[in-house]
Amino acid sequence: AEAEFLSLVEEAGSSSLVQEVERKFLGKGGVVSMLSREITELDAEGKREFGRRIGSLRKLIEGLAGERQRALRQLETERSEIEEKIDLSEFLFRLNTPRLGSLHLVTQAREELEDIFLGMGYVVAEGPEVETEWHNFEALNIPKFHPARDGQDSFFIDAPEGKDGALLLRTHTSPMQIRLMQTQELPIYAVIPGKVFRRDTPDARHTPNFHQIEGLVVDKGITMAHLSATISTFTKAYFGSNFESRLRPAYFPFTEPSAEFEITCAICLGSGCRTCSSTGWIELGGCGMVHPNVFHSVGVDPEIYSGFAFGFGIDRLVQMKHAIEDMRVFLENDVRFLSQFKGVQ
Ligand code: PHE
Repeated sequence: AEAEFLSLVEEAGSSSLVQEVERKFLGKGGVVSMLSREITELDAEGKREFGRRIGSLRKLIEGLAGERQRALRQLETERSEIEEKIDLSEFLFRLNTPRLGSLHLVTQAREELEDIFLGMGYVVAEGPEVETEWHNFEALNIPKFHPARDGQDSFFIDAPEGKDGALLLRTHTSPMQIRLMQTQELPIYAVIPGKVFRRDTPDARHTPNFHQIEGLVVDKGITMAHLSATISTFTKAYFGSNFESRLRPAYFPFTEPSAEFEITCAICLGSGCRTCSSTGWIELGGCGMVHPNVFHSVGVDPEIYSGFAFGFGIDRLVQMKHAIEDMRVFLENDVRFLSQFKGVQ
């Protein structure tokens, strides 16, 4: 019986099986109690001897079974700890794992521009993308049939005309000059970033919708020198202190005098290359002193107040800063392009 027990306990692979074996030997009707029955057939001496042996067999079985059970239990807890462990730090890469997006390159530039002007004490304003003909043209001293309208070929909205004329997608951010002067107390120091739309055939340097940032300052005693210094300060803040800006005479109906402003070519840093036609300068936008007719259209007295305005394309600025050959990539939303500019300032 002892040998049989030993081999069975050895075989039992789990603590519950050991328990079963123990029961089979020590339990009611088990092997040991069956053996005990034989005691009746023995004489007194034999009974004592037999009883001792049964007793030590019991002890042996209990002892071994207990030992084996403890050992197996420990193994079992160890195994379940391993099997049930959850590794919260584990990273499983799957194709459908969501990837982190980022702001569009143009949005990043727009926010950086806003910061620069906020730092100079300006406020940031936004305006409607659908404008009236009056705000977009007439109030800015561009009457009907003025040739300047041709340069800003417009998308008109198929809607009945109101008192301010037809509706159109704004062709520049300048109508916000009008809206600000109509609604804000003077003085005004504001920049207005936003989308603008023109019926251009898309090419490397034109897309039918793009972004501009407009600046408007109206105060007492504002001169062209303030305008020039402001543009120079912005140029250095955005591109770096080695960048210069300059003004060249130009014409806009809503400013007088008017200028185009140019900055150091970012490709050749002023030494001359194909991009800047060997001049070392790249034209960025338009600017000038607010035209008296514009002040009249919003009821500001040009004898008391003067001001300057400027406007330029944000997309063009980004194109220059990152030497992006074709502007159309801004609108194509190809992540292979966009993901190259995650967090670029
Ligand atoms: N609105 C002009 C344009 O879109 C730029 C400009 C703004 C010029 C303000 C002068 C003053 O071309």
